[in-house]
Amino acid sequence: MCGIVGYVGPGEGVDIVLEGLRRLEYRGYDSAGVAVLDGDSIKVRRCKGKLQALRDLLKQSPIQGNPAIGHTRWATHGVPSQDNAHPHQVGECVLVHNGIVENFLELREYLYAQGRRFSSQTDTELISHLVDMNLEHDDLLHAVAKALARVKGSFALAVLSTRAPGQIVVARRESPLVVGLAQGETFVASDIPAILGFSNHVVVMEDNEIGVVTRDGYEGFTLPGLTKKQKTVTVVNMTPAMAEKEGYKHFMLKEIFEQPQAISDTLRGRMDFDKGDVVLSESDEDAGLLQGVERVHLMACGTSLHAAMVGKILITKLAHVPVEVHTASDFDPDMVFAAPGDLFVAISQSGETIDTLKSLKAVQAKGGRTMGICNVVASSIARQVDTVMYTRAGPEVSVASTKAFTAQLAALFLLAVGLGRRRGALDLDGGRRMLNMLATVPGLVSRCLAGSDKIREIAHNYMKYKDFLYLGRGLMYPVALEGALKLKEISYVHAEGYSAGEMKHGPIALIDPAFPTVMVVPNGPWYRRTASNLEEVRARDGLVIAVVSEGNRDLGAMTDEVIEVPDVDPLLAPFVATIPLQLFAYHVADLRGTDVDQPRNLAKSVTVE
Ligand code: AGP
Repeated sequence: MCGIVGYVGPGEGVDIVLEGLRRLEYRGYDSAGVAVLDGDSIKVRRCKGKLQALRDLLKQSPIQGNPAIGHTRWATHGVPSQDNAHPHQVGECVLVHNGIVENFLELREYLYAQGRRFSSQTDTELISHLVDMNLEHDDLLHAVAKALARVKGSFALAVLSTRAPGQIVVARRESPLVVGLAQGETFVASDIPAILGFSNHVVVMEDNEIGVVTRDGYEGFTLPGLTKKQKTVTVVNMTPAMAEKEGYKHFMLKEIFEQPQAISDTLRGRMDFDKGDVVLSESDEDAGLLQGVERVHLMACGTSLHAAMVGKILITKLAHVPVEVHTASDFDPDMVFAAPGDLFVAISQSGETIDTLKSLKAVQAKGGRTMGICNVVASSIARQVDTVMYTRAGPEVSVASTKAFTAQLAALFLLAVGLGRRRGALDLDGGRRMLNMLATVPGLVSRCLAGSDKIREIAHNYMKYKDFLYLGRGLMYPVALEGALKLKEISYVHAEGYSAGEMKHGPIALIDPAFPTVMVVPNGPWYRRTASNLEEVRARDGLVIAVVSEGNRDLGAMTDEVIEVPDVDPLLAPFVATIPLQLFAYHVADLRGTDVDQPRNLAKSVTVE
């Protein structure tokens, strides 16, 4: 989720681009850079670190020129470093990119065979080489279009060349890019906030669109084919602050709604449907990671621990391998033995949770084989493990983890399939069936998000209650725990996740009309017994909010509120059942007026024990 800004006009390009990048800082970044056309030469300044590091570099070594492009990087390929920072210049071409090149290895081999050599680990540099090669015979627009015809995956691009003075060529597939029009000057950015204040006349680029930006405006064309497109101009009446959240009131709500994209990006390029298998990481040497695994250990805290609990069931069922879940904040190395067949997986959104990092180091000291599932590239845990699979959820700004959680579920599902295929627990058809199921998840999650308004009404009816029980069985038990954590951490309401089956062994004494129960009971092997737990709650006059599969007509009479989710294979139920619980927690907190994005006493990353 990088940030792109471009400018063509009479103004000072570098200053305007830097201000635009500053407004995109909520997108998170680990390196930044700018490039300009200065007469017949390209000038580039880029560095690792936050935007201030780039400002300091420019003070020491200024550049000026027009047009100008800039970039803040949220790494997906290659660690944060100066060499990997954008813009990437090759010959007479310099460009910035937001997206993922899926056929990275294939392109790298092709270019290497063409005699090209690389100065970075990024997929972006490959695009620069392709454009530079095409510039021998084509103008910039055609050179970029031909280059992109070879690229599989997502991109938002802004390209400069000494061969095209006064022009920025832009292109978009899945990653956002907008153009801002003003008198005698034109802007380009990943998001509207970077443009607001300079222009509120916006042209939104569509997927598979390429265009030419000049100080006089923008012309868009189809990709491929370069047929001219008729573009509409939208007048945007929004402040930059509002626009950073893309119109959402809080980052948490924005991130809840980003989940289809986060899951889709996490799965991108990792599902080989022909082989019914997964590609867990970009480097070949990791391929051996899953060989000879006889037992899996999952280590995490908080929401990531709940993901681990889901992962335990997925991996056991799909790979027929025993799985142990370790609460990293209460990890005792004496309780763990690292045998050659053991695989230890540290799950962490931030990659900085000290409890998880320390438990990881403890098992490494015992010779354990380790893997990470992290959302921040080159974070401490990502650098500590033998290999890492990144969730590509983009920066998660809100303290309450939402999109990272479902992206972790997607990563764990991939891991389960990969292990199942290597252990023979999943045959070719089984692997394909699992991957085809997994590919439907982004759409299923989108359907769940459509229920947000109804859930807000329910939240309104229950926002005054002081205590909640969240109950579930099987895969729905960690989902119940996660739903309870969401409510308590952002609304400060006491919410207890509990095994539905365990209620009759004591906690059912709590039930009364002042103590609502959220029952997570979609269709699945747990359904019948959870439904009877629901009856037990009702028999004691407990209020029940039930999450059920759409079309369920059995439980309506026994519940006070029903939230329907798509009727899916039980293995996918955690994805769909979690969404209404996230939304319920958000709306209760919003209605109660708490600081949703930065709740009291909490930090986004717990780097103390
Ligand atoms: C999640 O909503 C919480 N903010 C918290 O439990 C978090 O999941 C936990 O601290 C682990 O963080 P990590 O995933 O970055 O390791």
